[in-house]
Amino acid sequence: MPAMASVELQAIGKTYPGGTRAVDGCTLTIEDGEFLVLVGPSGCGKSTLLRMIAGLEDVTDGTIAIDGSQVNRVAPKQRDIAMVFQNYALYPHMSARKNMEFGLKLRKVPRDERRTRVEEVAGQLGITELLDRRPGAMSGGQQQRVALGRAIVRQPKVFLFDEPLSNLDAKLRTQMRAELKSLHQRVGTTSIYVTHDQEEAMTLGDRVVVMRDGHIQQCGSPMEVYTRPANRFVAGFIGAPTMNFIEGRIESQGGQGTFVSDAVRIDLTGPDGPTTIGIRPEHLVLDEHGPIELIVNVSEPLGDATDVVGTCGGLHLVARLRRIEPPRPGDRLRLGIEDGAMHRFDADGTSIES
Ligand SMILES: Nc1ncnc2c1ncn2[C@@H]1O[C@H](COP(=O)(O)OP(=O)(O)OP(=O)(O)O)[C@@H](O)[C@H]1O
Ligand SMILES: [Mg+2]
Repeated sequence: MPAMASVELQAIGKTYPGGTRAVDGCTLTIEDGEFLVLVGPSGCGKSTLLRMIAGLEDVTDGTIAIDGSQVNRVAPKQRDIAMVFQNYALYPHMSARKNMEFGLKLRKVPRDERRTRVEEVAGQLGITELLDRRPGAMSGGQQQRVALGRAIVRQPKVFLFDEPLSNLDAKLRTQMRAELKSLHQRVGTTSIYVTHDQEEAMTLGDRVVVMRDGHIQQCGSPMEVYTRPANRFVAGFIGAPTMNFIEGRIESQGGQGTFVSDAVRIDLTGPDGPTTIGIRPEHLVLDEHGPIELIVNVSEPLGDATDVVGTCGGLHLVARLRRIEPPRPGDRLRLGIEDGAMHRFDADGTSIES
């Protein structure tokens, strides 16, 4: 069995030559055996953070510890980490099998064991028939799977994945995602996985870390970041279609609070003042007494549900409605909000727990 390890980041920061502050003050512990996903928009510092853990980038400030020992000055090779990049760099002159064996050969793993490990992993990844081909004779998706296999056969202490499924088509990506997850459930190697795809983050992670502009916004289980986003950014980033936001204010009179905006009025108790409410499209429902009147612009039937895009008091809203005939442009729908599904944010965008 592979050794496993925790990874501790203490106030990690990275300033590139030229002055870009790519990562700032990130503190995070990835537990032994955990599958942690770093997610955030392009340029938020995900790859930089991962590359610092791998030792491929110097840390400007803070410390990184693997299995309890600080590794800031430890060379990448000595960290016992396997990294899979978006741009998998396979050796072009070697077959898939040789590519996968290469790291094991360097570590003097006996020939028979190399063969067994490579064939087992190739089977799991569905690339057995490709083992004797060179990368030039494979599709991008096949090469990506070989690159994954090359990391997996090494049985490192920690896996680092940087968007390893991005070159696969949608169906294969979903399939490989499930395969990675079940592999992790079997082997349990500590894994840190970078993606900008919130769905991939939610489906793969034991915990999800949402990043923005080099900062950690929130760290929690997939259900935590979905049901209790720390702020408006996380709320808008996690979940698809994106959460609807309605800006307005809460006004109280005689103990009765109302959220007031151009688009809607909703009973809602204080505190008084500027407030943004957030409602996920899947939490809007047809309700003839509901507070929202949506004028339909576009219907997008998905089969089990229809995404209805429309306007309400000049505001664009999206509702995901189940089991309805797709409404037509110009139709007016009365919508209510499922109980307990409304989110609230203060003027700074911080969540207000209700
Ligand atoms: N070698 C470098 N030199 C200078 N700046 C860099 C370098 N690499 C990245 N950056 C900058 O650091 C910031 C973070 O980049 P990083 O690659 O970590 O983002 P990312 O979250 O991985 O984005 P993506 O999803 O697009 O891969 C960006 O502003 C980027 O332009
Ligand atoms: Mg990146």
